[in-house]
Parts: sequence; C-alpha cells; structure tokens
Amino acid sequence: MKDLQGQLAFITGGASGAGLGQAKVFGRAGASIVIADIRKEAVDRALGELRAESITAYGIVLDITDRAAYAAAADEVERVFGGPPTILSNTAGVNSFGPIENSSYDDFDWIVGVNLGGVINGCVTFVPRMIASGRPGHIVSVSSMGGLQGTAMAAPYAAAKAAVINLMESYRQGLEKYGIGVSVVCPANIKSNIAEASKLRPARFGMSGYVENAQSIASLHSIHQHGLDPEALAEAILTGIKDNAAYIIPYPEVRDELEKHFKEIVDSVAPLESDPDGARLRVEALANWRAGRSKVFNEEAN
Ligand SMILES: NC(=O)c1ccc[n+]([C@@H]2O[C@H](COP(=O)([O-])OP(=O)(O)OC[C@H]3O[C@@H](n4cnc5c(N)ncnc54)[C@H](O)[C@@H]3O)[C@@H](O)[C@H]2O)c1
Repeated sequence: MKDLQGQLAFITGGASGAGLGQAKVFGRAGASIVIADIRKEAVDRALGELRAESITAYGIVLDITDRAAYAAAADEVERVFGGPPTILSNTAGVNSFGPIENSSYDDFDWIVGVNLGGVINGCVTFVPRMIASGRPGHIVSVSSMGGLQGTAMAAPYAAAKAAVINLMESYRQGLEKYGIGVSVVCPANIKSNIAEASKLRPARFGMSGYVENAQSIASLHSIHQHGLDPEALAEAILTGIKDNAAYIIPYPEVRDELEKHFKEIVDSVAPLESDPDGARLRVEALANWRAGRSKVFNEEAN
C-alpha cells in the first residue's frame, strides 16, 4: 500500500498513546479513521482532537476481548463506511509488572486475553471481510520488544507479545496472495498512558499476584515519560506499511541486545555434521509434503 489517501483504518486502542498517534498520522496522510477503544471518554476526547484537524474520524467503544461486540463493531464500520477497513491496526494493549513466580491465573487471563486474544479477535473478525472486499490492504499489530525476549517481571505480557509476532509472521505468509500486507511493530518504550493500564483490569480478573497501586503506576510513568513520541512511532509505522516491512523497530538502542539474543538461539543449533542423513531426510519430507499439501488442506480454497 503506497498511498493512504482514500483508505479506511480501524485502530484498536486508538484513543490514546500509540493508537492515537497512528490515528493522527494516518488521518493526515488522507485515511479515514475508526478508533476502537474500551474507554468512552477517551474515545470522545480523541475524536475531538482528530476532527479539529479535519480528519474524518469515527469512534466505537469496544472491548477487543468481546468477540460478539467485535463482530458488531465490524458490521457498524461496514454500514457507516460501505465496506470493511483497508488497514487494521491491532494496537490496544495492557501491561502489569510483577515477579513471574507470583503470576496468578487472573494475571495471565487478563493480560494474554487483551494482548493476544484481542489481536486474534481483530484478525478473525476482519481478515475474511478484507479478503471478500477484494481490495489491497494492510494489517499491523503492535507487539513489543518484550515479545522478542522473555522477561521475568512481565511474563504474561512478554508471552502474549511473542505470540503476536509469530501470528503476524503467519498471516504475512498467508495473506500475501490477497494483496494484504502484514507488519508487526516491536516498540521499546512509548510516551503513553500504559502505566495506567491496571485501572482497566476487569473485576473478574481481580486476583493478581502483582503490585498495582499509585506507587507502581508512578514508577512506570517514570519510564514512559521518556518514551518515543507516539506520532514519531506512527510515522515509522506508516513507512513500514508503505514498504510492507515485516518488522518495524524504530529503536536503535535495542540492536546489540537483539543480536546477542538471536545469536544465542542460532548458536544452539546442532552442526550439520552431527546428523547429515537425518537432516536430509527431514528436509526432503517437508519439501514433499509442502508440494502436495494444498489439495488436502484446502490451501487454495479462497
Ligand atoms: N508504552 C510502551 O512503552 C510500550 C512498549 C512496547 C509496546 N507497547 C504496546 O503499544 C500498544 C499501545 O499502548 P500504549 O503504550 O500506547 O498505551 P496506552 O495505554 O496509551 O494505549 C492503549 C489503549 O488501549 C486501550 N485498551 C486497553 N484494553 C483494551 C481493550 N480490552 N479493548 C479495547 N481497548 C483497550 C486503552 O484504553 C488505551 O487507550 C500496546 O499494545 C502496548 O502493549 C507499549
């Protein structure tokens, strides 16, 4: 997708931080914007800011973990705009910090539910609609540096974000034939309101092993006040969409750490001399299976 003029972008978490940054930058580039966010007052405020810039903006109050509500939101978008979005940005996310050994089921269920479940719901809701529209499109999901490396103080978050990266790699392979590009963003630190995320935690996930109070929120704010400006991040995302970049990581400070991490993984691979015959057989078996699988698995069905 080279030009945002005339596109329709559906941005989850669009009422704040990285989502609102994209709404502004994509809107200025000529796209119509739908922001979907769980906080009504934040949606209203964000719509005011977007419309003040003469951006065509529409708001939907949506909990991205609610599949029925997500489908209704998609129907509403099609009713209002005459078709599904051409850009889906899965940006909404929440975080909470605490030692991995204290993690409760509620910590996992809430954090994985929003950060991974919300992305799954966005894709399952919109991908068939985007394909059916026959228009080229783009899906971008906001993961995290935490998704590229485990972290003991934010384990459910890191696990969910790792899965988002992997999921986007799969969608990227699968959707290329429909002219739908797919990118994943791995930010390190964004100037945003994510420190306040614990306030959005539903009561049904109330049993936390973590500390979530005014002091923990203030501590997180001390990091995020120095984060990348959301509009600067959105500019990098826009460039990534235009280039159909697989990964968008506009953070020079993470290169050395990533290189070290992935070198450790690659260095763990056994040398070919350790099992040359077995390796050859396995590679051949996979290649044969790939060559003959499309009829069996309905790969060309659409
Ligand atoms: N802030 C950072 O340093 C940082 C770093 C790496 C990745 N990220 C990721 O960036 C994305 C955007 O976060 P941000 O930093 O701009 O934070 P933010 O809190 O400013 O924005 C996130 C938005 O998501 C919304 N949201 C939360 N739960 C929701 C739900 N269930 N349904 C719909 N909307 C919901 C919130 O209301 C909020 O408006 C997230 O996925 C986050 O994990 C942030």
